[in-house]
Amino acid sequence: MPVDLKDRTALVTGSTSGIGKATAIALAARGAHVLVVGRNAERAGRVVAEIEGGGGRASSRLTTLGDLESAQDLARWATEAGDGHVDILVNNAGVALLGPSDAATETEFDETFGLNVKVPFFLVAALAPAMAERGWGSIVNVSTMVASFGQPGMAMYGASRAALELLTKAWAAEYGPRGVRVNAVAPGPTRTRMTEGIPDEMVNQLAGLAPAGRVAEPEELASAIVFLASEDASFIHGVTVPVDGGRAST
Ligand SMILES: NC(=O)c1ccc[n+]([C@@H]2O[C@H](COP(=O)([O-])OP(=O)(O)OC[C@H]3O[C@@H](n4cnc5c(N)ncnc54)[C@H](OP(=O)(O)O)[C@@H]3O)[C@@H](O)[C@H]2O)c1
Repeated sequence: MPVDLKDRTALVTGSTSGIGKATAIALAARGAHVLVVGRNAERAGRVVAEIEGGGGRASSRLTTLGDLESAQDLARWATEAGDGHVDILVNNAGVALLGPSDAATETEFDETFGLNVKVPFFLVAALAPAMAERGWGSIVNVSTMVASFGQPGMAMYGASRAALELLTKAWAAEYGPRGVRVNAVAPGPTRTRMTEGIPDEMVNQLAGLAPAGRVAEPEELASAIVFLASEDASFIHGVTVPVDGGRAST
């Protein structure tokens, strides 16, 4: 495994579990100092221990993200914990509140757009200018395959991620000329705590519509995220890579 990210600090939101955890571990294996973020102390401790046990470097922060202040606080802490610099930002934390649109409440709508759109927006606003000043930065946003097609019960969630995909292009245009690449991945159903909360038959049915015909493991998402975050993807700006077993192509 190359240690090409040795001098990089990587902030991964929602890295106490699932896709974010696998990404944090994979970035640390490439040498990055990883900033692990989530709400659950035990899960955060386990991720940091796993990274350190593998010879990597990690620091952690417990926070509930959802608004401007939480994003700005995290950016301030991350810059300090990262010895003055955050080079890689993975906007991964998200909430998927599923159900009919006519049953959704305003609180659920605000929670969804708060965590899935507002927090990434203000983390980028807080961190990308310093990346641009240093002339190198890489941002990877975690979207979803249901940002690209209509899926009953996923209107609010899909719409929030569609906003993030447009932001991916807008930020690539805004910060790309100053050395900051911005890209996204759009996962299909992946085996994490998030899908544990959804009936198996629904997850399998959704996964079964893709050519791969199965649910992904978080590590299969992490490898795409790390690719985009690293210089392996040095000429890739503003794209959303479907990592969905082929669903978007059907
Ligand atoms: N799993 C899928 O099938 C799938 C498919 C498409 C897209 N995605 C996207 O992938 C991303 C990761 O999801 P996952 O499947 O890996 O889920 P997961 O295992 O449930 O992980 C979610 C992570 O986000 C953190 N988090 C959630 N709400 C938070 C908040 N308000 N403030 C701070 N941290 C918060 C959790 O922290 P704690 O555990 O510490 O509370 C955890 O680390 C999400 O954006 C999701 O929309 C997932």
